[in-house]
Amino acid sequence: VFRTLNGLDPRGERVLVRADLNVPMHDGVITDATRIERVAPTIRELAEKGARVIVLSHFDRPKGRAVLSMSLRPIAERLGDVLGKSVAFVPECVGPTVKVAVASLGDGDILLLENTRFHAGEEANDPEFAQALAENADIYVNDAFSAAHRAHASTEGVARKLPSYAGRLMEAELGALSAALENPERPVGAIIGGSKISTKLDLIGNVLAKVDTLFITGAMANTFLAAEGINVGKSLQEADMHETARNIVREAQEKGCEIILPVDAVIAREFKAGAASETCLIGEVPDDAMILDAGPRTVELISDRLATLKTLVWNGPLGAFEIAPFDRATVAVAQAAAKLTQEGKLRTVAGGGDTVSALRHAGVLERMSYVSTAGGAFLEWLEGKLLPGIEVLRTAGQQLGLD
Ligand code: 3PG
Repeated sequence: VFRTLNGLDPRGERVLVRADLNVPMHDGVITDATRIERVAPTIRELAEKGARVIVLSHFDRPKGRAVLSMSLRPIAERLGDVLGKSVAFVPECVGPTVKVAVASLGDGDILLLENTRFHAGEEANDPEFAQALAENADIYVNDAFSAAHRAHASTEGVARKLPSYAGRLMEAELGALSAALENPERPVGAIIGGSKISTKLDLIGNVLAKVDTLFITGAMANTFLAAEGINVGKSLQEADMHETARNIVREAQEKGCEIILPVDAVIAREFKAGAASETCLIGEVPDDAMILDAGPRTVELISDRLATLKTLVWNGPLGAFEIAPFDRATVAVAQAAAKLTQEGKLRTVAGGGDTVSALRHAGVLERMSYVSTAGGAFLEWLEGKLLPGIEVLRTAGQQLGLD
């Protein structure tokens, strides 16, 4: 229901592409270029079709000021390497320097502008700032699904000023996500992990109405267990969420969604790398121990159930996977899901910051059906929220009288 690049002849046009180049960087070195690689096809396609491509992105959270360490300059070079084509850079995203740089672009050239969040108008979604961004272009392409939950000038406001299109990555993300939760092949399951129920209440509420099986994992599961009166020792849990956890279980029953909780655990007395650990059944956790991972029986239970599903949505690890040996359940279940996916038996769609690192750690990132580049946007989408950057693509064309 929004326009894609299929219907666009961009030759000679100035096309403003909103990418999400907010990549992990350490001491000025890009540590994970996935987002750059995933947006490259849109930029390449437009350039090859003769567009004058102007790339726009935020980076980090400079809060409306120019912060040198948050410049997009180092990213221009990497983007050029990925595209195999030079990418020009100007240290501004609006104003006269940008005008000059854009005027000198030839068909097929690519220009990266500076971090949009150096201007307070970006996050305020100031229409004047959106207009200043729009002024340098004829067409707007949003390819930043992972920033679509932000109603900012470069993701939302500018789409009201120019004929707007969804880029290829945006198309792919929305296609994969809707195939996983809106129109899934059933039975469909979801692995929802993480440390706190309180941060994932809306998400759980939305997901349980849509899936047949919900695996609750990570420290969040401890709260559900404790709510049933099971001793979880010193485990991380939210004592004030017990009533909520019981309500979730009741609601799931009413909606025909089966909730699966861990049946055993890996426990330790302290949470540090290489800490002495042991396995015990849920219900047998000693008072002075804490649950740090799901145990082997839980892994078997989940893996067996995955084999009965057609679709799996995954958000959140099974344990404290950043610290060995508490990564085992996450790795084992990730590998089981990857195997079923590779055999064509399961469609697995995963996303959210932690989940992507967990799947990378398990070595299965490339073996899932689709891994979203989004963190917060993936979570908001799982919550069933409308994402402003996407909604505007659906409606702005009509407002401009273009559809
Ligand atoms: C992300 O990394 O999730 C997006 O780039 C959005 O970043 P933000 O949380 O700073 O808005």
